[in-house]
Amino acid sequence: MTKLNSSFHFVAVLYVFMVARFCYADTSRSPGSRQQVEEVTRHLNKHPVKSIKSPDGDIIDCVHISHQPAFDHPLLKNHTIKMKPNYYPNWINKMSSEASSSLTQLWHSKGKCPKGTIPIIRTKKEDVLNSVKIYRKKNLPKQQHASAYTNGELYGTKASLNIWNPKIQKSNEYSSAQIWIVGGSFDADLNTIEAGWHVYPELYGDNNTRLFIHWTSDGYRKTGCYNLKCSGFIQTDNRIAIGGSFIPVMTQFGGVQYEFTLTIWKDLQSGDWWLQWGSELVIGYWPSSLFSYLSENAWMIQWGGEVVNFGSHGHHTTTQMGSGHFPKQGFGKASYIRHIEILDESGNSKTPKDLNTIADQNSCYDISTNIDDDFLYYGGPGRNKNCP
Ligand SMILES: *[C@@H]1O[C@H](CO)[C@@H](O)[C@H](O)[C@H]1NC(C)=O
Ligand SMILES: *[C@@H]1O[C@H](CO)[C@@H](O)[C@H](O)[C@H]1NC(C)=O
Repeated sequence: MTKLNSSFHFVAVLYVFMVARFCYADTSRSPGSRQQVEEVTRHLNKHPVKSIKSPDGDIIDCVHISHQPAFDHPLLKNHTIKMKPNYYPNWINKMSSEASSSLTQLWHSKGKCPKGTIPIIRTKKEDVLNSVKIYRKKNLPKQQHASAYTNGELYGTKASLNIWNPKIQKSNEYSSAQIWIVGGSFDADLNTIEAGWHVYPELYGDNNTRLFIHWTSDGYRKTGCYNLKCSGFIQTDNRIAIGGSFIPVMTQFGGVQYEFTLTIWKDLQSGDWWLQWGSELVIGYWPSSLFSYLSENAWMIQWGGEVVNFGSHGHHTTTQMGSGHFPKQGFGKASYIRHIEILDESGNSKTPKDLNTIADQNSCYDISTNIDDDFLYYGGPGRNKNCP
């Protein structure tokens, strides 16, 4: 349906070239780079049918569904867009998503994208340069996790994520609450699909809590980036802007708890991995052809938080994970992920038993699984007297 023409291909190649080049060069001094940045920026921003200015400063471009960035990907050259999954898993818990319907995105107060279009956050020139820096960072051993995981031949998961606005000490640090779908080994062949919320000042220029997605098929080396900033994820929905801010009604410490449900599952017929928000809103999919291992199945699914710690003057960062409080503080105070389900090869959904946990530095950020009550608590303040 959608054809990739040679100029698209050229710019896709140019982009890869620029990424490679920026890894080795000081771009502000390399001649011609400004022009390249402009070209890439122009290329990334597809011609909109309509544009909406969000109160947080984002411009939301409503772009025709067949002009979206995914179709710049060489592997998706002959891809025929699918408007809905062939298959919806039978989840155990059908009621865990009411809370997400009340939680909308900030830009919704200013308009809607028409049918046949998808909302895309417009890329600024700074973003192109930042995304190169950010692209490199996903590969650094500065990340800290407090997460739980299960292994097996897995085909999907559903979970409800409690939403907070953690403080970030440095603008190039971030804090996320997310799901990881993992295939391959933790090396050059690592395949991941990730989705959740995060606060990432360098990526967006603010401290808002935003919905994000990420994927890689080579351990974050040459493929993958956040949201729709590089081609790969195909969006089918006109209501949710990936990367968009939530309305600033955050969970209050000890008060009302807000959450949203994400579902990621493999369409057993096409092999694509679909992403759903809440109880019915299907956002889009990662085509099976993007991946090696994940074109078969996942061998690990993980839920929890990730922070990048650049520290300062030999101290751990004060960047918070989750609510900024430790799991032992429990409901209302610690950040949680609940109603976790996984999908096996026969399409049966179940609650994962015997979750394993990862806490890289549990005096800084920790995790506790209490799966009988269906809650997984995680997070922490970062720097404190036990985490100097
Ligand atoms: C797309 O289709 C053309 C013509 O059938 C074929 O030569 C090409 O290899 C295909 N590309 C991909 C990425 O499948
Ligand atoms: C984000 O929050 C930090 C404090 O945590 C503040 O120093 C910084 O100015 C904020 N950044 C923006 C872009 O608002």
